[in-house]
Amino acid sequence: MLDKISNANFVPDGRVYHVSVKSGQVANRIVTVGDPARLHRFKRFLDKEPKPFEHASARGYTTVTGRYKGVPVTLIAIGMGVAMVDFFVREVRAVVDGDLAIIRFGSCGSLDPSLPVGSIGIPKQALQISTNYAHWHGESDKEAEPPYLFSPPIPADADLQAALVSSLSGSVASSTCKVRSLELHASADCFYSSQGRIDRNFQDDNETLIDDLVKANPDCASLEMESAHLLHLSHLSPNIRAAACHMVFADRTGGAFIDPAVVEELEPKVGRACLDALVGWDVEREHPERGAVWE
Ligand code: URA
Repeated sequence: MLDKISNANFVPDGRVYHVSVKSGQVANRIVTVGDPARLHRFKRFLDKEPKPFEHASARGYTTVTGRYKGVPVTLIAIGMGVAMVDFFVREVRAVVDGDLAIIRFGSCGSLDPSLPVGSIGIPKQALQISTNYAHWHGESDKEAEPPYLFSPPIPADADLQAALVSSLSGSVASSTCKVRSLELHASADCFYSSQGRIDRNFQDDNETLIDDLVKANPDCASLEMESAHLLHLSHLSPNIRAAACHMVFADRTGGAFIDPAVVEELEPKVGRACLDALVGWDVEREHPERGAVWE
């Protein structure tokens, strides 16, 4: 196990350094969220027996592993941003044998007026928006260096994305909640600057960012901070399948923000739909007894 991360970022009892879990404490099927409070609201969906394993790491990760409808699953809250996704995927990969199927549920801003607050988008692809430090620093010609770089689209796992569309359409969609499969989503490395939020205290050079993004990627419907890196990592390792869904919290074209009562109503339905999509999933080379050491 230890040779799976070359510089062996493990503590002596076999736990990975940041997520702080070891072999047997994470299932092959994972639902990841940002907010630990959301994870605590979802953990009541797990079977009562065997009693779920739960651990909060000193670095901001909370892991709950149990069974959902009899199938081992892990819920993990990872906080925000690319670095937290990176620790999560690499360290979990290091301690779980066999396939990983990962569904992320997060919040997002909408760039598409037909995707209002309270809607759910399930992207087929996500691109990454990265701050291009060379625009502000160093000897290069600032005009020649754009402040923000848009990666090519990175595909979600097509089957897992379709399973999510089906599960969410069946149990969450309503006259007030649109569930839509999206062609393209974008994840940014920051919440403010690289998502085009203007902050007069900083020279972010982001006044045209949203227009530039949509001009270059007319299908891009939503923005958040984590999913593109998750999808990226899933393509760098042979046995990881990943997809994401996002609830629209902010309408970036009209300015509306979601009512907390709407989140309260929709969130549990989305959580269950994510778990249903995951447990219907055929994971290869799962633990032979479909169990885990924590039991
Ligand atoms: N999360 C983000 O990163 N951006 C938004 O606009 C909303 C949620």
